[in-house]
Amino acid sequence: MAERKPLISGNWKMHHNHFEAIQMVQSLSYQLSSDDYDACDVSVHPPFTNLRSIQTVLESDHIPITLGAQHCHEEQKGAYTGEISPGMLEKLNVGLVIVGHSERREIFGESNSQVNSKVKAIFKHGMTPILCVGETIEEREEGEAERKVQKQLEEGLHGIGRERIASMVVAYEPIWAIGTGVTATPDDAQDMCAKVRQCIKFIAGKDASESVRIQYGGSVKPINAAELMNQADIDGALVGGAALEAESFARIIQYRLQ
Ligand code: 13P
Repeated sequence: MAERKPLISGNWKMHHNHFEAIQMVQSLSYQLSSDDYDACDVSVHPPFTNLRSIQTVLESDHIPITLGAQHCHEEQKGAYTGEISPGMLEKLNVGLVIVGHSERREIFGESNSQVNSKVKAIFKHGMTPILCVGETIEEREEGEAERKVQKQLEEGLHGIGRERIASMVVAYEPIWAIGTGVTATPDDAQDMCAKVRQCIKFIAGKDASESVRIQYGGSVKPINAAELMNQADIDGALVGGAALEAESFARIIQYRLQ
């Protein structure tokens, strides 16, 4: 069975200007050791305006944290005022791009078919997508959670080859747990992440399902990280609020020491 190295990612959303971002990354790097980087991969996903500054810090100080983006447009260039293309991100040595975050889907109306085009465009530019899926509280209460996530995966991954799926990251983020302080129980998170893996098996085969990394996201904190990360089908965390401060993000990355 494939060895899946955990991936802990900090999604900063619309927080930190570039001065604050530089300070945060430097402070984070002082708190992490080579043992931490051996044990798990780390990425930070700052706002677009900070990408160049953070790239410079990571590269000049040889910090082994992957630079990530929160979103991108699916086209390479064109009249799309305010958008950023995957080629622009590639030039900044961005390695991971979050796609289909529930805030993009719910606030900006991104459809599964747009998400699918973005996943393809991200791969085309040599980067790795973190495809977000997850249900609302109403969908969970109506017993629709699994069907919603399955549809997001089937449509979001339509036409994408098995090897690419094997190399990517899926983040299960129940919308009711995002920014609310209400975390899914480790059992509930594990249950849905196992279903995500089953669904990937159906879409792309056994090998891909055993290689794909599945993150849990939604109110991950230093206090609950270890319990979540110890679940069989959870290979990482996509962290919002607790990734904004170096100390709390470092403690999540060091969950194995708890
Ligand atoms: P919180 O960790 O703040 O709940 O945010 C989760 C999230 O949306 C990460 O993408």
